Amino acid sequence: MSKDFTHSLVILILTTVVVASFSLVVWVVPNIVRGDDIAKNSLAVPLTAIELAGRDIYISEGCHVCHTQMVRPLDPEIKRNGRPNQEADDIYEFPNLWGSKRTGPDLTNLARKYSDQWHVIHLINPRQVVPTSIMPSYPWLFEQTLTGDDISAKMEVLRTLGVPYTDQEIGDARLQVRGKTKGEALIRYLQSLGKDTSQEVSQ
Ligand code: HEC
Repeated sequence: MSKDFTHSLVILILTTVVVASFSLVVWVVPNIVRGDDIAKNSLAVPLTAIELAGRDIYISEGCHVCHTQMVRPLDPEIKRNGRPNQEADDIYEFPNLWGSKRTGPDLTNLARKYSDQWHVIHLINPRQVVPTSIMPSYPWLFEQTLTGDDISAKMEVLRTLGVPYTDQEIGDARLQVRGKTKGEALIRYLQSLGKDTSQEVSQ
């Protein structure tokens, strides 16, 4: 009985190992070797405690399902969304929120585009500021408040991953978040997007 390669477990395992090692060499190793360089050139600033709390709400409400944070280096995208993403921008992002579905606009460089008040109205009912909007309403964000109980622990974990939070920042975190509404925290996060990195003139 003749056997072709699709019937051989050995060949299957071998080829899987070869392909996986190739990806490792091409994608992972260079980033480990150049990690320090990337961090040195980065304009990224770690999120404050309240911005970090807002980021968690962004994730839990599924905003990243409709919004990307990934401006590609293509002319029409740069015209519409500003400076394209650079690899050094996301060194403090765990996990990254690049997203993949562009139902709504890209939010990479959102900071400064709207006032806080605009965001409040838009999150409570997007149709009030953009009549044709299909974005869902999130009125409860301004009714539910945060305790801030877990924020210091989250910052400590991020510190082990390389985000340079100081003891003082971690110590003060709970008070910064406690009693704020989810909406307030989310808006602080939205207003931080691209504030640190969009300064640089796009190349
Ligand atoms: C079902 C898809 C969908 C979801 C989920 C969604 N959005 Fe949107 N979003 C849109 C669409 C479509 C627009 C464009 C119309 C508008 O401005 O309302 C938009 C617009 C925006 C804008 C204005 C962007 C700009 O450049 O004008 C912001 C800010 C925003 N969304 C934030 C959020 C946040 C925060 C969440 C999570 C709480 C969220 N969106 C969830 C679809 C979505």
